[in-house]
Amino acid sequence: MNSKPETLKVSSPRLGVNIDHVATIRNARGGRHPDPLRAAHIAIEGGADGITAHLREDRRHISDNDIARLKAELTRPLNLEMAATEEMVGIALRHLPNACCLVPERREERTTEGGLDVVSGKDQLRGVIDRLKTKGIRVSLFIEADERSIAASAELGADIVELHTGAYCERALEDDAEKLGLELDKITRGANLAQAAGLEVHAGHGLTYNTVKAIARLPEIEELNIGHFLIGEAIFGGLSEAVEHMRALIAQARRETVS
Ligand code: PXP
Repeated sequence: MNSKPETLKVSSPRLGVNIDHVATIRNARGGRHPDPLRAAHIAIEGGADGITAHLREDRRHISDNDIARLKAELTRPLNLEMAATEEMVGIALRHLPNACCLVPERREERTTEGGLDVVSGKDQLRGVIDRLKTKGIRVSLFIEADERSIAASAELGADIVELHTGAYCERALEDDAEKLGLELDKITRGANLAQAAGLEVHAGHGLTYNTVKAIARLPEIEELNIGHFLIGEAIFGGLSEAVEHMRALIAQARRETVS
């Protein structure tokens, strides 16, 4: 009998879209436009499986009110990125996002540089992780893909580790295949070790159209979180349409004054 070959089912990693930089643009003028919640709805329409937002201590982009609105209105899971501070734990316990991704935070940094120091920060992190998990929030630790950080994350009872892809993406901008290969090897090994330790594996930071495929290919990775590049690309995808619409309104206004 001629039977059809079975179609190979390959599951794709989920995509979490980080909308922080919509808020960066809004905050440049201080008003309400562009609204990160509207961006979140559009991202979901486009296929995002979840929305990620980082509430920073200095509130440079996402605000407390954004988190409240996202939590109240989103139709997909909210992943709240935050530092492991008392203030942020209080906010997370009030809003109950689906997941919290604990990240290191320094006021002077432009973006999250490096992963959490899970090894020396163990005692403090343990309390934070326990409090969040007690309320049913899944806890993710944003770490470098090294053996010690992975082992410490598993020992602390984290549900997830998000492996930092920033260094890999930076190497991709340089013309050094060997260094790029070493960074990819580190993430590949890390993903493998983390899964073997019982952790769900996510990855993110700095990913672009050029760098995403090598990371998405790793079978252990269940979710990618991508923000800055996507928001930047949205300008190029949408600017022409926005200008066209503005020109049409201007022309229409003039026609209305003469008719
Ligand atoms: N994952 C984590 C833990 C992050 O801190 C960030 C940046 O906020 C991202 C993913 C997304 O990085 P990018 O904006 O460079 O795509």
